[in-house]
Order: sequence, then structure tokens, then C-alpha cells
Amino acid sequence: MNGNEDRMRQAGSREPPEGIPTLMVAELEADPHGAFRTWRPRLPVIGHEVAGFVVLRAADVDRLMRDPRVQATETLYPKTRGIPEGRLFDIFAHGMLTANGAVHRRRRSPFTRTFAARMIEGLRPRIRAAAESLVRDWLPDGEIDLVERYTALIPAQTIADILGLPQGDIPRFTHLAYEVSRVLSFTFGPEDVPNLEAAAVALQDYVRAILEARRSAPQDDVLSRFLAEAEAAGDLTPEEVVVQLVQMIIGGTDTTRVAGAMQAALLQQHPEQWAAVSRDPGLIPAAVAESLRYEPSVGSAGRVAREAIDLDGYVVPAGSMIMLSTLSALRDEAVYTHPDAFDIGRADLPRLHPIFGGGAHRCIGEALARIELEEGLGALIRLAPGLRLTGAMPVIHGHAGIRRIGPMRVAA
Ligand code: HEM
Repeated sequence: MNGNEDRMRQAGSREPPEGIPTLMVAELEADPHGAFRTWRPRLPVIGHEVAGFVVLRAADVDRLMRDPRVQATETLYPKTRGIPEGRLFDIFAHGMLTANGAVHRRRRSPFTRTFAARMIEGLRPRIRAAAESLVRDWLPDGEIDLVERYTALIPAQTIADILGLPQGDIPRFTHLAYEVSRVLSFTFGPEDVPNLEAAAVALQDYVRAILEARRSAPQDDVLSRFLAEAEAAGDLTPEEVVVQLVQMIIGGTDTTRVAGAMQAALLQQHPEQWAAVSRDPGLIPAAVAESLRYEPSVGSAGRVAREAIDLDGYVVPAGSMIMLSTLSALRDEAVYTHPDAFDIGRADLPRLHPIFGGGAHRCIGEALARIELEEGLGALIRLAPGLRLTGAMPVIHGHAGIRRIGPMRVAA
């Protein structure tokens, strides 16, 4: 650990200044919307038991995503969570998500063309066909778990398709991605670290083996092109190549799996809105956007304050860890009329959806996620118009990072 990180680490865990309460993880996990609803009108920022400070209001979250005084955490986060080294640690040390400045640009740039909206739009017909084929597969089976049989498979098949991963590997790499992504939640303890580390080792070894295969037998796919470009340019280390792909797999599967399930569940919970979308598929993008606002699959973005940050007179000290709460910002009454109402007809969502972040780290997979979610919903309303929940509403857990969802029993 260098001296700078050491200082940040100590500062990151220091007590919030007077007047700013500290909320416990258990309280935030039990009812994140309730906790944020209580504090957001009173304070722009609250303390967090583990993660320093939580920024609550939409305007602050948006502004701080772009503020150069607020930066990606590099390896501060794993160090504060008791992970000072190892392959889990490497995901933070070598990945784009936690990098800053030129290092971040170098790690991200090989992917920007592949994931550009124009390129990704070309995948829409294939994603539609894949979604329809999945629905046709489970329709005869009666009651199913929609997460397992549908919303998990659309993003997994798509990312496998884009990266050129064998479809037969889906159960393995999605399981590992879900395990590893738990490191971004605040509910794991020291006893869980060995399992998370084992999953990180297995996922990186998996990617390494795929890369080896492509190196010896290049194909006409994104992975071969990425590898050729990265190696020709010579500006990504072998660890960086592996870790960027690991981040693509994590970012590209779990987030969209949860969002796909949540949008189906919310529309089921509001049958008049399900009926409206069924009558007018032109409403699908609005239904997707409102679901992402109402129950976002990503609850926050982690940062560190390089300088003291003043939010309406409440000062976050330099060196503190900061959680920019997308979950809170998306229910901010200063932006949204009746923020706790699910309404696909709302006209107050910003043009750039805040769920995908902002600034240099804005989600690289946004266009892809939207298409997967739109086509996933479209196939449901066309082929399973009588879809209904047969069990309880699925529960979405988590107040930070990638959120988690339980099973969702449905029948068509
Ligand atoms: C509903 C689905 C999704 C949501 C809500 C979401 C949300 C986000 C957010 C909020 C960030 C910024 C994090 C930060 O600033 O710290 C981000 C970054 C990222 N996302 Fe997504 N994402 C989704 C889907 C995807 C997909 C499908 C992919 C991959 C194909 C992907 C790959 C990434 C990557 C690699 C980054 C890091 C970008 C960087 O650091 O420059 N995401 N995502």
C-alpha cells in the first residue's frame, strides 16, 4: 500500500462530522428506499457504516459523477473490505471500473467501438429472436421461475454471443459472475472472502483459457478482434486483458438479469400498465426506463473524495469514501413527481437515464442493456400476454452496487 492510499484508507473509515448520522448496513438493507426517503429531504449526505458517506440527492449524485475532485477508488475499496491482495483484489487493481485518468481510458478504449450504440443496434433482431425462442421453450412447461428460465438467459446468451464464449459455458460463467459481483455489495463478511476469491480465480482462469483458445485459433468475433487490437497496440498487460473481460461478463449479466425480472414484476403488479404496454408496444422503452428508475439494478457507484467536498454546508472530508446513491437519486422528490409511484407515463425522467451513471465511467453497456430489456419485455407481451405471478413479488435486495433478486414464479 502506498502512503497516499494508507492515508485515504484511514480517512475513509473515519467518523462522519457532527450533524451527519451514520446508517448501519442492516438498516439500509432492510428498507433502502425508506431510509433514503427519511434522510434525503433533511440532509444531502449521510454516513455509512462501511462505505464512508452516501450522497443522496439527484443533483449532487449527477454533479459528483463528473467532478474531478471525486475519483474512482482504485484499490481502496478492497483494502477497506479486508482484501489486500489476490485475484479478487486484481479485479480492482487492473479493471476500468476502478481506474482513473489515462489508465482508465487505456483500459476502456478497446471496447468503445464494439459497444457503440450503432453497432449494438445491429444486434436487435438476434436478441429478439433469442428472447422469443426462450419464451417458446418454457411456455409449455406451465409454472416456471422467470429469472432462471428467461431474464438471466437473455443477457448471458447475448454477452456470450458478443464475446464469442461457448453457449454451453453459460451456467458456469454466470454462476461465477454472480458470486464475484457480491464483492460490490456490503453484505459479505470476512468468512465469505475465501468463496469470493475462489470464484474470482475460477472466472479469471476461465477467461484466460478462452483467450488462449482464440490466440491459437482466431475467429471472426469480438474477442479475437479485441485480442488482436490489444496485442498489436501493446498497451494492455495480460492481467488487464483478462480483467476487462471479467468486468464485461459481470457488468453484462447480473445487472440486466435483475432489471429484466424487476420490470416484468412491476408491470405485473400494475396490471393496467401491463395492459397498456400490451396494447401499445411503443410504450416498451418508457416501461423499461421507469422500471430502471423505480427499482434500479445498480444501487450506487463508489468513489473517493480527493479534496473536501461541501454539500450545502455539510463537508465530506478529503480522503473519504463516497457512495453516490443512484437508488436514492432516482426517487428524489426534487426531480420526480410522486417518486414512489410506478408510472410508465411519467415525463420527468432526464434524457440521459441516471441509472447508467455519468462522466468517464458511464456504463459502456447501456445501449446493449436497453435492447435486451426492451426485446425481453416485447417477447413476453407478444408470446405470453396472459403472464401472471403465481407466487409473491420477487424480492430485490441491496442498497449498493449490483442488487440481487430472488426467484420469480410465473405462469403464462
Ligand atoms: C440494466 C443494466 C445495467 C445497469 C443498470 C448498469 C449500470 C452501470 C453503472 C451505474 C455504471 C457506472 C459505475 C460507476 O460509475 O462506478 C456502469 C459501468 C459499467 N458497465 Fe454497466 N450497467 C448495466 C448493463 C451493462 C452491460 C450490459 C454491460 C456490458 C456489456 C455493462 C458493462 C459495464 C462496464 C464495463 C462498466 C465500467 C465502465 C467504466 O468504468 O468505464 N453494463 N454500469
